[in-house]
Amino acid sequence: MAAKRGVSEASVKGRRVLVRVDFNVPQSPDGSVADDRRIVEALPTLKHLEAAGAKTVLLSHLGRPDGRRDPKFSLRPVVHRLSALLGQPVPLADDIVGIHAIEGVTRLANGGFLMLENLRFHPGEETNDPAFAAQLSRLGDLFVEEAFGAVHRAHASTVGVPKRLPSYAGFLVQKEIRALSPLVQGAEKPYVALLGGAKVSDKLPLLASFLGRVDTLLIGGALAFPFLAADGAHLGATKVEPDLGPVVQEFREAAAAAGTALRFPTDLVYEPAGGDVATSTGTDLPDGARAFDIGPATRAAFLSALAGSKTVFWNGPLGLAEDPRFSAGTREVLAGLSGIPGFHVSAGGDSARVAENLGVTGAFQFISTGGGAALEFVQGAELPGLAVLPDA
Ligand code: 3PG
Repeated sequence: MAAKRGVSEASVKGRRVLVRVDFNVPQSPDGSVADDRRIVEALPTLKHLEAAGAKTVLLSHLGRPDGRRDPKFSLRPVVHRLSALLGQPVPLADDIVGIHAIEGVTRLANGGFLMLENLRFHPGEETNDPAFAAQLSRLGDLFVEEAFGAVHRAHASTVGVPKRLPSYAGFLVQKEIRALSPLVQGAEKPYVALLGGAKVSDKLPLLASFLGRVDTLLIGGALAFPFLAADGAHLGATKVEPDLGPVVQEFREAAAAAGTALRFPTDLVYEPAGGDVATSTGTDLPDGARAFDIGPATRAAFLSALAGSKTVFWNGPLGLAEDPRFSAGTREVLAGLSGIPGFHVSAGGDSARVAENLGVTGAFQFISTGGGAALEFVQGAELPGLAVLPDA
């Protein structure tokens, strides 16, 4: 997609800059920030604004409080971490667009920061309520979109505000667009997509979007089971999404017509009835067994399909990666991918965290901060939070 006008072009000194960030971060049971990647990735834009003398007002959501104030979803732990990373205190305006927010903005010095409390405490955020968008807009002179993870949402802060103020893309949003655009158009070939995860019904649009675009689609994880079952594999007591026979058959025909090769597991790691772990030869399992990972022959076959590729897209673990008994498939394939030259991108949901936990982030030249947003981008969808920004 076209590049967007970037924050470095904005004249910000002494001006109030509303920055939409996606600080919807994983939290520990005590509420503290468990993974600050999304905060760290926004720092270049925030430091740029600080150095340029802007008065920066940060907007974010956290979780899904559904328009109601819920202390569990307060951004307080986030401003705590952010203050440490920025090396200056970032006050939190708990009333979002009320008197505390207005006074907080008025008090801002050049180079200073204020964060508004979780936007989703207000019912107008998710409905893109014009009155709420207008209230938010009155707190700033300019808008910077830095919440790549939220640009697939047409909310007040992602669409309502940029419609009302001169708007720019932050450095992270620019970087995401640059990295993900070639996956949609103009990827260096051979282009291979490696997909796993749980539900075919959720991922079917993503899978379908790759047909004709990639040379090979490697399918692992529970995503593969309906395909194996449709081929007559006996999967024992493995949980297989029901009634997908016709859907997967249609998908295979579409892949053949589009010239995209499909590869599925040819062996499985499973839990036999009564526990423990075993590996099958072939895809038939004993009665009562439950498959949780791809087997060694599949790992080798996937790696040989990846060897020689120039572009790789990965989303979703190839087995139950959080269980060490069933993480070898994902770990070995991604570890092998680290040694294959090319442009490798990971995006969506928990994929980044899975790679990090398995110690295989080195497989990727780019790891998107987007969950659903990145997957929609890669499918070629128009994202409302990007469409509203002026092109460069
Ligand atoms: C994400 O984590 O994918 C984004 O922050 C968007 O969150 P949402 O799915 O609740 O809109």
